[in-house]
Amino acid sequence: MNRPRIIINCAMSADGKIALPNRKQLRISSDEDMGRVFRLRNQCDGILVGIGAVLSDDPKLTVKESYVEHPRHPVRIVLDTHARTPKDALVVNDTAQTLIFIGDDEGFSYTFPKNVEVIRSRINRTGHIALPFLLEELYTRGIRSLLVEGGGSVIWSFLSQRLVDELYVYVGSLIIGGVSAPTMADGSGVSIEEDIVRLLLIDTQRIGEGILLHYRLNTI
Ligand SMILES: NC(=O)c1ccc[n+]([C@@H]2O[C@H](COP(=O)([O-])OP(=O)(O)OC[C@H]3O[C@@H](n4cnc5c(N)ncnc54)[C@H](OP(=O)(O)O)[C@@H]3O)[C@@H](O)[C@H]2O)c1
Repeated sequence: MNRPRIIINCAMSADGKIALPNRKQLRISSDEDMGRVFRLRNQCDGILVGIGAVLSDDPKLTVKESYVEHPRHPVRIVLDTHARTPKDALVVNDTAQTLIFIGDDEGFSYTFPKNVEVIRSRINRTGHIALPFLLEELYTRGIRSLLVEGGGSVIWSFLSQRLVDELYVYVGSLIIGGVSAPTMADGSGVSIEEDIVRLLLIDTQRIGEGILLHYRLNTI
């Protein structure tokens, strides 16, 4: 399969949570780590999130000029099977191009501006956007590096299908707690030990009051 290089980046608390129990976002990364994230975004051709993150966080997914001198905004990509991206979501603003992947029999009742393209996609057995279809489509459009920023369900889909080349996890020095707070890898999880996603730790780095973990998949 032709696909872009896939980099997953996520920030979590010391107890492994990526948002508050009510799914609202909170700042986990230190200021120095935000700089790293914006530089990483600037180096990637595409940046991807699920509709869950769009609805709870309303992210812009652009590169902030205060962190990168000459920003080169990646193409923003949303996995949105049931066409729920709000017309006024920040991810469709005119700062960058946006691709919204929806189910093949879905559609929006409103139109988006010219910088937004809606792509009808193949659906997988779980009723979500089929990642092989998505990745081939992105490759065809010239996207060679893809940054996956969340949330937990989307990250789980990429990890469980072993569609990842690099994984960065920033662990902030805070505890969120609560069984319902989302984690970095939600979705169904594995039910047998053989299916566990094993990683190779490449590097660790202290950044501000947190630590950055850099992994690759352990395919041995
Ligand atoms: N700390 C961080 O680094 C960070 C970053 C981003 C987000 N977050 C947090 O993550 C939470 C959102 O995570 P979430 O798990 O609710 O939502 P999500 O992962 O952003 O989106 C999940 C939704 O995407 C759609 N989808 C379409 N194709 C998919 C596929 N192949 N695999 C998985 N999902 C697919 C599904 O909805 P449809 O079936 O309707 O399409 C699914 O319910 C929020 O609380 C946010 O604050 C944290």
